[in-house]
Amino acid sequence: MRITVGIITISDRAAAGEYDDLGGPALKDAAQKYGWQVLAEAVVSDEISRIQETLRSFSDQGCGLILATGGTGIAARDVTPEAIRAMMRVELPGFGETMRRESMKITPNAILSRSLAAVVERSLVLALPGKPSGAVECLGFVAGAIPHAVALAQSVPTSC
Ligand code: MTE
Repeated sequence: MRITVGIITISDRAAAGEYDDLGGPALKDAAQKYGWQVLAEAVVSDEISRIQETLRSFSDQGCGLILATGGTGIAARDVTPEAIRAMMRVELPGFGETMRRESMKITPNAILSRSLAAVVERSLVLALPGKPSGAVECLGFVAGAIPHAVALAQSVPTSC
């Protein structure tokens, strides 16, 4: 099955050019190793409206899978889960549970992440931690379920 991917780095500092985006390229590399096709990439600030318009745009461009990295923690500006939940059709709690359970074997700080997966429009959206290695690790813990979840998300009729 062909999986088309959009990658969003959510970080005020990366969006302002204060430091290089490392998470986006790390996820792109991982996605390509899974044999998926990366269609779109963006770096956006931690603003609910910016996150939501990018998710909508990537979904409209045909990204069956959207990987977001950053903003899942507890800092004042961490709003990625809120942005996704405000526009999702359904959440898939097993993804967040698995990412935290497996990540806890690597670092106790993983309990701080509000990582999640949800269906937005006809895309499967994953909110992954901001640390590049953490984002790639979390993707790896759930990668086996992604083809089936993407297929189901795409087969759901959407209202116009
Ligand atoms: N998960 C994995 N697998 N590896 C990590 O290094 N870092 C944690 C956690 N999840 C981490 C992880 C840390 S330190 C934080 S604060 C939270 O993810 C939230 O990160 P974010 O706010 O950058 O999204």
